[in-house]
Amino acid sequence: MVVYLIGFMGSGKSTVGKKLSKRLGFSFIDLDSAIELAEERTVSEIFTDEGESYFRNIEADVLRDSSKKSDTVISCGGGTPCFNENMDFMNNTGQTVYLEMTAAALMSRLINSRNKRPLIAGLDDSELDHFIRRSLAEREKWYRMSMHIIDGLNPDINQVTSLLQSRDPYNLR
Ligand code: S3P
Repeated sequence: MVVYLIGFMGSGKSTVGKKLSKRLGFSFIDLDSAIELAEERTVSEIFTDEGESYFRNIEADVLRDSSKKSDTVISCGGGTPCFNENMDFMNNTGQTVYLEMTAAALMSRLINSRNKRPLIAGLDDSELDHFIRRSLAEREKWYRMSMHIIDGLNPDINQVTSLLQSRDPYNLR
């Protein structure tokens, strides 16, 4: 079974993904890292060199490749569910978990980690605040298509495990 963790930048997808994969005995894939490996350059370099739509195509390809491995937790990028019908793809090939967080909570997470994220790297504090509010509002329609929604601020790994088990009792113990 494949578990996809989705949510806005800074919602803790990688941290929760690592913990969850340990708990389930699954492998772990961080989608941004898999993209960087495939492209032999950083996500920021891909955005600068090629632009966002190139990145979105690679992201969709690497997502489909990564999903072929069974018993895997995949931590997606913040934009993954919102492009190339990826949300439908994920709901059809595994279980999706949205780490929900408010714009205010995301602001306090992202204010000190702008640099490695090309979409917010050049923004000042008030631009960042605007960007988070606007894109969260746009993206929530995809995020809310998730099978499970959990609190990103205080994620409870046992709760996620039981939610996943409730849909797939044979593969998860
Ligand atoms: C993006 C989020 C990033 C990365 C890229 C685009 C987005 O991932 O995929 O910079 O569109 O929200 P994280 O959510 O892991 O920061």
